[in-house]
Amino acid sequence: MNLKYRKTIIAGNWKMNKTLTETKAYAEAIKPMLGKHKWCEVVLCVPSVNIPGAVRLFRDTRVAIGGETCHYEASGAYTGEVTVEMLKDVGAKYVIIGHSERRQYYNETDFTVNKKVRAALDAGLRPILCVGESLEQRELGVTEELITYQVKVALAGLTESQVRRVVIAYEPIWAIGTGKTATAEQAGAVCSHIRAIIRKGYGARVARAVTIQYGGSMNAKNAAELLSQPDIDGGLIGGASLKPEDFLAIINAANQQG
Ligand code: 13P
Repeated sequence: MNLKYRKTIIAGNWKMNKTLTETKAYAEAIKPMLGKHKWCEVVLCVPSVNIPGAVRLFRDTRVAIGGETCHYEASGAYTGEVTVEMLKDVGAKYVIIGHSERRQYYNETDFTVNKKVRAALDAGLRPILCVGESLEQRELGVTEELITYQVKVALAGLTESQVRRVVIAYEPIWAIGTGKTATAEQAGAVCSHIRAIIRKGYGARVARAVTIQYGGSMNAKNAAELLSQPDIDGGLIGGASLKPEDFLAIINAANQQG
């Protein structure tokens, strides 16, 4: 973290979890405990149908609500999809783009990721762009090359001021939902590499301002160590964001470093 130059963002990715009724119970449990979370921004990315409800439930807090994916077209015959304007119109502020589960199960490519990032920014949403290698890629020693490619293609055509608004989440696929966290050094090294890519493409001032998260089995126990890395500015949290007390512990770990 480096609070002088950039915001810390702790974001939950609920994936395909929680009904609106369960979302309400979660909000009731976590709201009284939230406090001021003064150093970091807190985001909950929830299933599309529950966004309007979540926005209502968290209206009187500083928790922002986000979507988990979007389409890049403004409208059209894309059964089941939602546009960035739809997300914006119901009160979402963020949208996750290019999560490895979307890449794996829904044929998302680096090129569609790029289109989605641009569409989100044009609509005034902040994209949380996910990148990360598989275990096989890590073992082959191509992590840096792969991350460079993913980041460069995802950000292609963006202006400097647009790049500043992109949150980048480094999520090694082998650490997602497995309980196997990258070590703070491993995660920190890739996040530093991501910042170096931004520096090369957009200059030192932009690189300094971009929030880079780590995601992959982040929890109440390992959050503080991961967040103590200079280039890790937050987390994108799956499983541990589903329990109010666990998510709160991660928010507090971020606040304590402020
Ligand atoms: P877990 O925290 O459950 O490993 O999930 C991470 C993730 O995929 C967040 O987007």
